[in-house]
Amino acid sequence: MPFNKVILFVLLFFTLTSVHAQSPRKVGLFNSGWKFYLGDDSTAREPGYNDSQWRQLNLPHDWSIEGKFDEKNPTGQAGGGLPTGIGWYRKTFTMPLSAKDKSIFIDFDGVYCNSDVWVNGHHLGNRPNGYISFRYELSRYLNFGTGKNVIAVKVNNSAQPNTRWYSGSGIYRNVWLTTTSASHLPVWGAYVTTQVNSNNAIIRLRTKVVVNQPGLQLKAVILNKGGQVMNSIVTQVGNDDTTALVTQNVVIGKPHVWSVDDPYLYKVVYSLIAGKRVIDKYQNTFGVRTFNFDKDRGFTLNGQWMKIKGVCMHHDLGALGAAINVRAMERQLEILKAMGCNAIRTSHNPPAPEFLDLCDRMGFLVMDEAFDMWAKKKNKYDYAKDFKKWHKRDLEDQVLRDRNHPSIILWSIGNEIREQFDSTGITYTRELVNIIKQLDTTRLVTSALSEADGNKNFIYKSGALDILGFNYHPETYADFPKNYPGQKFIAAETISGYATRGYYDTPTDSTRHWPTSSKAKFTQGNAEFAVSAYDNVAAYWGSTHEETWKIIKKHDYLSGEFVWSGFDFIGEPVPYPWPARSSYYGIVDLAGFPKDVYYMYQSEWTSKPVLHLLPHWNWEAGKTVDVWAYYSQADEVELFLNGRSLGVRRKQGDDLHVVWKVPFEPGELKAVSRQEGRTVLTEVIRTAGEPARIVLEADRKIINADGKDLSFITVKVVDAAGNIVPNADDLVRFNIKGKAQLAGVDNGAQASMESFKEPQRKAFHGLCLAIVQAGRSPGMITFTATAYGLAPATITLRTKSAYR
Ligand code: GAL
Repeated sequence: MPFNKVILFVLLFFTLTSVHAQSPRKVGLFNSGWKFYLGDDSTAREPGYNDSQWRQLNLPHDWSIEGKFDEKNPTGQAGGGLPTGIGWYRKTFTMPLSAKDKSIFIDFDGVYCNSDVWVNGHHLGNRPNGYISFRYELSRYLNFGTGKNVIAVKVNNSAQPNTRWYSGSGIYRNVWLTTTSASHLPVWGAYVTTQVNSNNAIIRLRTKVVVNQPGLQLKAVILNKGGQVMNSIVTQVGNDDTTALVTQNVVIGKPHVWSVDDPYLYKVVYSLIAGKRVIDKYQNTFGVRTFNFDKDRGFTLNGQWMKIKGVCMHHDLGALGAAINVRAMERQLEILKAMGCNAIRTSHNPPAPEFLDLCDRMGFLVMDEAFDMWAKKKNKYDYAKDFKKWHKRDLEDQVLRDRNHPSIILWSIGNEIREQFDSTGITYTRELVNIIKQLDTTRLVTSALSEADGNKNFIYKSGALDILGFNYHPETYADFPKNYPGQKFIAAETISGYATRGYYDTPTDSTRHWPTSSKAKFTQGNAEFAVSAYDNVAAYWGSTHEETWKIIKKHDYLSGEFVWSGFDFIGEPVPYPWPARSSYYGIVDLAGFPKDVYYMYQSEWTSKPVLHLLPHWNWEAGKTVDVWAYYSQADEVELFLNGRSLGVRRKQGDDLHVVWKVPFEPGELKAVSRQEGRTVLTEVIRTAGEPARIVLEADRKIINADGKDLSFITVKVVDAAGNIVPNADDLVRFNIKGKAQLAGVDNGAQASMESFKEPQRKAFHGLCLAIVQAGRSPGMITFTATAYGLAPATITLRTKSAYR
């Protein structure tokens, strides 16, 4: 190491260690150095158990995604056909003597599912719910100094089926170790609400303090985004010997409001003070914003009318499975943001906490959902069996964990809950709404209802919902004010259209429902297990994307919608049988490549000019092909084939696209959009020749050397002229040189049995994806893609030190 680097290192080391030593609270990820065994061995709870043969890994970890697709796996096709079972994790660690009189906690953000945790052989607890965050206190069971400690976690995801979608298995979210003084702010004990007045905002802080000594003070400092102090307050903490609640009101002048376009965040830093010493420190972000749902006029954020343009998202991250990765979640949200999406429904469970942080930071409204079932099951071994014992605790923990996020505007107590069909729905709804209201009255409570007839819907009849959330039945929206006088509306779930990226059936004159009804057998479909990507195929309970959006757009009282679904997800591959294993519902495919309807939303949900042509231009000579264009910020589009005009089209009435019927001839298809005669955009598609070479495009070429950051590399198979070959399915092999690893591969094909983890992938309609994950030391990475008969491609990435 050169001398100047040694000095820098030494300085950095001392800065970090001295800050650490002074810090009254230590919070650290507890993700590295775990041992894992896929199988059951009840003696593994014992601290002295020999785990030397177990696999070493870092969390977050999802063992299902590493497995092989198999129809016989007990989770079934709905769960993606991946293996589940029982797995054990162990971690051995030491604690410094200085921590002896401290309070020490382990926090699990989520374990799927049914986990049991032991420390040094002491059972700390069992948690059936696979999506809930939980904490155990370790203090009194630990050894300090040189003595070893062992955490053992049994994850039991063997009772199947227990889900209607892919869940993943294992400790798939972060784990944290927190050390505090005996007196401290407990987990989720800080609650921030805001009241906006004409010139200022009152920040109301309600903070729990675990009190272990008299004479404590709580100081709260409000900082703006730039770190400037806005105001502060110091309050005496009650001399209770258990838990005190401290209420503090702090005023800030002219608040910078949080919105979807300008997601401005403030911070509150709490210091717990004994005499002159700070004995605990904690902080959280918050936003200042107001919102309202109006029964006649819909939704306002900070007094501005807007539609909720939302999507439903399951938690998996495609090839990465359920194992959380902040960059992967951020990429999903970036793709959705660019479409104009402004809201997410976390269907049908609480998400990773980092997902909500991203929504706060990137400007998404959130409907945070609790359950997919109550006491009546949807699958033999699902959460229904745990609901009676656990629903209160789980729902309370969700609200306590999440209630400081400005992004959250709605709590959902459940999705298509079976109790909507009988009177037990009334009792449960009231109880669940009441649980939430005890902890947070600043959001509205809803439930995603599938029974659209209020007379038959007992959740509605409870009278306890603040806003009615309906799934599907767009035909009833026009009569909503008549049928539900005085009620507020949100379309909690819409569409369920299907599409396979890059696959087209033409002509497109009719809309198809696959299958046609609940009783009909599915006999349509095709040998490729694909669905046409012209927005004209949907579930019988759903609609095309255009059909529902036209209605939502039309009526002010419809506050907005959450489209099913933003991305394809693993599992629920309706309408196809095996080997289909992931869903067809996404506006974006599983690999993160937009399907065509993405551009319909972009043309409607953003104000930027859009022009998108579909399909590709490789057909048999003479075939008549329907050519669609989505466009916006223009009043017409003219289409040219090999330089000849095929005519000008203008959207009429509530049209959302225009069509030409074009007898195919190879060459160039060009669309020009114009506004008052002036060209706005031009879009060209050319007939592609034979696959000739590979082109690589990384979403980010410089990533952090933190062992987590990702570069998503789009792999294109193109012809000699650089056109993507629309039906190319070449097998592409990947090689990485440098301090990085391949985290996953995909191509968005819903019925592919290829592994997400092998260093190779077939192109699907000309594209595939490789996900490169940074190692922990900075350097250059060379990523190469090769395929038989094609010119290979190489791209150079760089990982940079995460500390600079
Ligand atoms: C809904 C359900 C979703 C998903 C969707 C598929 O009824 O709430 O979870 O199953 O159907 O169309």
